[in-house]
Amino acid sequence: MTTERSSFESVFGTAPEVTARAPGRVNLLGEHTDYQGGFVLPAAIPQQATVSLRRNGGGEHRLYSANLNQTLTVPLGEVGTGFAPYLTGSMALSGVEDALDIWVWSDVPSGGLSSSAALELATLRALRELYGLPLNDVELALLGQKVEHEYVGVMCGIMDQMASSLADTWHMLFLDTRSLERRKLPLPADPLSGTAQVLVLDSGVPRRLAESGYNERRAQVEEASRLLGVPQLRDVTDLSMLSVLPELLHRRAHHVISENARVLEALDADAARFGTLMNASHASLRDDYEVSHPQVDVLVALLQAHPQVYGARMTGAGFGGAVVALVRAGQAAQVADSVLAQYTGAEGRMVVP
Ligand code: GLA
Repeated sequence: MTTERSSFESVFGTAPEVTARAPGRVNLLGEHTDYQGGFVLPAAIPQQATVSLRRNGGGEHRLYSANLNQTLTVPLGEVGTGFAPYLTGSMALSGVEDALDIWVWSDVPSGGLSSSAALELATLRALRELYGLPLNDVELALLGQKVEHEYVGVMCGIMDQMASSLADTWHMLFLDTRSLERRKLPLPADPLSGTAQVLVLDSGVPRRLAESGYNERRAQVEEASRLLGVPQLRDVTDLSMLSVLPELLHRRAHHVISENARVLEALDADAARFGTLMNASHASLRDDYEVSHPQVDVLVALLQAHPQVYGARMTGAGFGGAVVALVRAGQAAQVADSVLAQYTGAEGRMVVP
């Protein structure tokens, strides 16, 4: 097996100064709430991005992706294209002025599991270590979000970067995305077997139009909160207030407000109740927010119908990509086998565990 150090060495001819990693995340509940000040419940996944780097003393960055087996050369002060903006944006916002050789590799699948945030946070962690930057984990997450906004061009919320920076694989991170207050919670209790298990499947549906769809949804809920006269939909709990909205905005706002209520209810829910809330979240994302995909709906329905599954839903921005299920302890691999055997029309696969 090739180690990352020898890979850095084989590409750049010398050892890196630092190596850092950051995980992807799976969001268990609280989808499309984080750009309206709402609540989310993500957990880290085992897959992560790895970034090794070294100052090269020259006038240009050399950026190598082991996934793509591609080197990009970017002059100092420029942003570059492809995967470069994640790295050069992180450098620029950290005040780094040196030219760097950077080696990146990631096993976070693309499509709903925050591969971008993992890359940003791994890069920022490496830079923090190399330069002794006085940034805590929350500040690092905020910087990662800024990279996304200013260098990648995606107007994301803060969930993914906070999860990549602060979550672990055995807790849910309950995050108030307005105050950034947070609490780590155990996974929902399974009355029969202890702690329920998280299963993540990739639907195999490539995400298309995700960026434009995301920005459109964001604009719609901003318009809804403006029409309701509140700073953010987080400030609405009474669904009857929505009757003043036109039909489409009514449904969009209904999703966000009901999703916030589901997260709050989930905080002390057992696995059975938590699963019911996940199912309701999926229906709301599919029907009111319209960010699911017919093929993803098929996979979610197969999971929901399985006797060992408490609940299932799409996860992340949507428009294809990953689904998450809460499963009876010890049953995840067997559930994945049986559900994937029935799933046709796309190439699904198990991602976690
Ligand atoms: C993407 C964004 C997040 C969040 C989710 C949807 O992952 O990066 O900020 O909005 O979509 O919940």
